[in-house]
Amino acid sequence: MSLITRAEQALSTHFEQAAGVGGPPRLLAAMRHAVFSGGARIRPQLCMAVAIACGDEAPQLTNAAAVSLELMHCASLVHDDMPAFDNADTRRGRPTVHKAFSEPLALLTGDALIVMAYRVMLQGAGPHPERLAALMDNLTLGVGLPHGIVAGQAWECETSADLGQYQRAKTGALFVSATCAGALSCGQRPEPWAPLGAYLGEAYQVADDIRDVIADAASLGKPVGQDALHARPSSAQALGLDGAIAHFDHLIDQAASSIPACSCRDMLRQLVQLEAERLVPKALCEGYFKTHAPAHAGGVGLTH
Ligand code: IPE
Ligand code: IPE
Ligand code: MG
Ligand code: MG
Repeated sequence: MSLITRAEQALSTHFEQAAGVGGPPRLLAAMRHAVFSGGARIRPQLCMAVAIACGDEAPQLTNAAAVSLELMHCASLVHDDMPAFDNADTRRGRPTVHKAFSEPLALLTGDALIVMAYRVMLQGAGPHPERLAALMDNLTLGVGLPHGIVAGQAWECETSADLGQYQRAKTGALFVSATCAGALSCGQRPEPWAPLGAYLGEAYQVADDIRDVIADAASLGKPVGQDALHARPSSAQALGLDGAIAHFDHLIDQAASSIPACSCRDMLRQLVQLEAERLVPKALCEGYFKTHAPAHAGGVGLTH
């Protein structure tokens, strides 16, 4: 079974189990809208890939950990899109939750998905309750203070922020949680896997900044030009487009090099390279530079 299929199946199963029966139908519909809407599922796939590299001897626990990461991610997107934050009308090619269901329900959807993430972890502990505390702690580090998603979003409310710190918190931290959760669910030490999550996660946010400038809303399924509109710290703005692409390539190289020696190293390296091309397609960059900066036509030093 492919990683994406495993992730989708685990999400469906755990969502229904954790939701139970008899909850408010509109809230449940809004939660389903937020979760089952065609996300790339990169975080659960990363968790599962690392677990496979670690032997995957507790697949149900790995699945629960992977689902909890994706639920946290979906919650962060619902809140991020709300008028108080980025005020975005579309996400994954569909109306955002507050547009489709109202602001109160969007707020509650984010809250409910965060709580559901913890419930899924608790329900998934099964035969390995001794691994639960470390997995829960790992999840809180990706989402909360001092360096998780909430901290990252809060840097936007400060008068100044360090770009790298902001990106590592906003996006990188949950990637670190994802790789570490893969090891922890197998009862192994997470530390060797943290750099892969950190480099890939930071690359992911740099890619998001690049695509915010050079991609179009239809292909991304969400508005573009948002970083400039909201004066957000952005790699493309801080480093220029060339600089941001070079930084992205460097982070991808570091991610690939950081993979610990294991029987799945080639598979993981391939996953990193495929993600790099999916995130910042060479053709997209070349097309953009041809139209916007003729001096660059014919090559912008894209190495991934
Ligand atoms: C979008 O994340 C927000 C960022 C942290 C850049 P993804 O690009 O993983 O979004 P989905 O889950 O595929 O929609
Ligand atoms: C979102 O960051 C990352 C979160 C922690 C929610 P952005 O605001 O830059 O991401 P998009 O472009 O809306 O997906
Ligand atoms: Mg945002
Ligand atoms: Mg946003």
